[in-house]
Amino acid sequence: MIRFENVGLRYGMGPEILKDVTFQLEPQSFQFLTGPSGAGKTSLIRLLFMSLRPTRGLIQVFGHDLSTIDKQKLPNLRRRIGVVFQDFRLLDHLTTYENVALPLRVAGKDESDYRSDVVELLKWVGLGERMHVMPPILSGGEKQRAAIARALITRPEVLLADEPTGNVDPPLARRLLRLFLELNKLGTSVVIATHDIALLEQVDARRMVLADGRLSVFE
Ligand SMILES: Nc1ncnc2c1ncn2[C@@H]1O[C@H](COP(=O)(O)OP(=O)(O)OP(=O)(O)O)[C@@H](O)[C@H]1O
Ligand SMILES: [Mg+2]
Repeated sequence: MIRFENVGLRYGMGPEILKDVTFQLEPQSFQFLTGPSGAGKTSLIRLLFMSLRPTRGLIQVFGHDLSTIDKQKLPNLRRRIGVVFQDFRLLDHLTTYENVALPLRVAGKDESDYRSDVVELLKWVGLGERMHVMPPILSGGEKQRAAIARALITRPEVLLADEPTGNVDPPLARRLLRLFLELNKLGTSVVIATHDIALLEQVDARRMVLADGRLSVFE
């Protein structure tokens, strides 16, 4: 579904922080992306989400070569990828329900068509009782789950989650992990960027490890 070949990335005139990164993301796969702080996990997630362009190398997303693709096609490709940012990026002036529904509203969908889907998803992530509350009132873990629900509402084929357990206690981290595994069973490819060792040890999943700009993959 997504293919990287000898991808390199540098910010401005800085050093190359990703070097010759080569891997493929298979349909319905589950993988962790790990490596020390500053190793480039968030940068790799941004490349996968096409919000950052590589300095060199080839990236193919759903069969399209990103260096030659018509820019107008990018939003449609992005809609097939859900992303949970490290800092959530919820809109404080909208309710939790409205935040989760936003990607559908932006896509021009009718509320009467998606209302029950949004409510069902909010219940699935355990926010059924909190849907009319604004994000500033939510706890860290509730914000995290709202961000996850917003990433999932468009039923993406790929879910990218950047440190999705960074702000929650171990029991909630385990619950979120179960949620991601369940989602993966339903057919979504999942990439979880994390340096949470306890989380990594709970699942025997593929590991993509970044160190010194290079990516090693352990099946
Ligand atoms: N917008 C930017 N401009 C310049 N340098 C950047 C930018 N974003 C990240 N970097 C640098 O790129 C390197 C990788 O950063 P990145 O955020 O991808 O790491 P990370 O593995 O996600 O770290 P963490 O575990 O702390 O979240 C770091 O040295 C960082 O300072
Ligand atoms: Mg990061």
